[in-house]
Amino acid sequence: VEDVVETDVLIVGSGPAGAAAALCLSTLGVANIMVTKYRWTANTPRAHITNQRSMEVFRDLGIEQQVLDDATPHELVGDTVFCTSIAGEEIGRIRTWGTRPDREGDYQLASPCLTVDIPQTFLEPILVRNATERGTQARFSTEYLSHVQDADGVTVTVFDRLTGHEYRIRAKYLIGADGARSKVAQELDLPFEGEMDIAGSMNITFKADISALVDHRPSVLYWVIQPGSNVGGIGTGLVRMVRPWDEWLIVWGYDINDAPPQLDDEMATGIIRELLGMPDLEPEIQGYSLWGVNEMYATAMSKGRVFIAGDAAHRHPPSNGLGSNTSVQDSYNLAWKIAAVLAGYADPSLLESYSAERSPVAKRIVTRANKSAREFGDLFEALGVVGLDGEEMAAAIEERKANTAAGAAKRAALVEAMETKNYEFNAHGVELGQFYESSAVISDGTRPEPTADEDLYHAMSTCPGAHLPHAWVGDSVDRHALMDLAPYDRWTLLTGVAGEAWAEAADAVTSEFGLPLQTVVIGPGREVTDLYYDWAKLRDVAESGAILVRPDKYVAWRADVLPDDPAGALSAAVAQLLGRA
Ligand code: FDA
Repeated sequence: VEDVVETDVLIVGSGPAGAAAALCLSTLGVANIMVTKYRWTANTPRAHITNQRSMEVFRDLGIEQQVLDDATPHELVGDTVFCTSIAGEEIGRIRTWGTRPDREGDYQLASPCLTVDIPQTFLEPILVRNATERGTQARFSTEYLSHVQDADGVTVTVFDRLTGHEYRIRAKYLIGADGARSKVAQELDLPFEGEMDIAGSMNITFKADISALVDHRPSVLYWVIQPGSNVGGIGTGLVRMVRPWDEWLIVWGYDINDAPPQLDDEMATGIIRELLGMPDLEPEIQGYSLWGVNEMYATAMSKGRVFIAGDAAHRHPPSNGLGSNTSVQDSYNLAWKIAAVLAGYADPSLLESYSAERSPVAKRIVTRANKSAREFGDLFEALGVVGLDGEEMAAAIEERKANTAAGAAKRAALVEAMETKNYEFNAHGVELGQFYESSAVISDGTRPEPTADEDLYHAMSTCPGAHLPHAWVGDSVDRHALMDLAPYDRWTLLTGVAGEAWAEAADAVTSEFGLPLQTVVIGPGREVTDLYYDWAKLRDVAESGAILVRPDKYVAWRADVLPDDPAGALSAAVAQLLGRA
């Protein structure tokens, strides 16, 4: 008898993409199995910066507080330092992740959540625990081998590494969240642009209490410019906080054209001492590994019943901190669509919108992250260290202190070079400004209008395809973020007092299509009111108009005013969005 286990969705991988997919699907009541190759989740800290959109996802899924409990808080993440070593001289600082007072306002106005720092070793267990509590069947030490898809489903062969037993899982859909070396993506033969392994890098994790050197300038990132730091890697040497202030991760580059370095405790200790500028330090080394910097993205993220999510689709350096964030958001985009198709109220063609919406995001973030890593070149140029090494490099860095014309020119160049780093560390537009064009959005020909640089600033808008703007609503007792009124398990129609008639239209559409759709009327004396009158300025439609918000908080459709036949207008929109027109 053949061993076949059945489920609705099989997820390969328990990283940020896979574990988030499992959590989203289980939250929506979709049966799923998550298989992952190793006995547990990530064994090194890896990704850590967790941006506002990801925190919103966690808020929506009811795990925001759990993440905050394990995260280094926003107040401690932002005093990013550039130096010759941690104990050495400072070249400059930049306030990052929206912690500079003028940017903090932009960040706070755009979201109920702020950026925090949580290493993957802490985040993944939270995702996995909540997913399994809500229904996910998690199979560790289980390797994905291959799949075959047909008109009704996907048959996947997996290998139980404990028993040495191979078996098959039959699922309606397969999600390959199996990381940058994705076997699922390879088997699907999806189209990719770019290159892998463009630079060599190493991670060294260690414990050492260096509070005295850092707690007056609290940050996640301490960038080190010293001989060797302009070779390979992610721009320059990095000492990254894992836990304040006694657990750290160093990223240091090597020349990818040379034989890979033979990392051992002695070499790792040497690198730690150099970057910290503490020649006698005895660090407790936890581990080290070599990894390649990639610049590659998929231009299509699905084929039939198989999808890829996370690094399987976008492979890039950690610059801008977009790795696990984008991975979580891929899965959040995909899961509600699968749930809608399985529940029967959406046509399977809705699933095509996943690739249409997320592959442009993949391209944008891979491009941005690699550009940011390269822009350290501006800093090297400003310091005049390009092509230099050893003592020559040290002397060139020293020259910035000189009371000479050359010293003055260097100081002026540094001001500009430091400014460029905002594109890595305060790129609010890249972090939040994803805009979707697909069959799951009914465009009215508009796009959010940027008032400033699109990478640095996020323009809030209710244009179909944009993310629901943030506003605080409530009453004299409670205050809610608008997103809290539009939970993940349903669609939400937002309107004002003059648009109350939409509620009846929404009920009619719910009966017609069977989709979960609620109406929220915002106004005095209603369920919630526009506490600060912000929503009135953001909603971009008349009070009688309506904004249809998808489960993932993207605007699917909007009506400027209440039409004569609101049920007809809404029904036509919903039919088109669900592929049932
Ligand atoms: P991820 O790689 O996290 O997970 C893949 C999952 O698939 C794992 O659970 C794995 O076990 C599983 N898997 C793979 N093949 C399988 C198979 N055949 N069968 C079953 N399971 C399989 N980013 C950042 O922002 N800052 C950083 O400092 C770093 N540092 C860093 C260091 C190192 C060493 C790596 C490898 C990566 C980083 N990253 C990073 C990148 C960041 O970790 C990455 O963007 C996210 O983990 C992507 O999440 P995914 O879930 O897509 O893949």
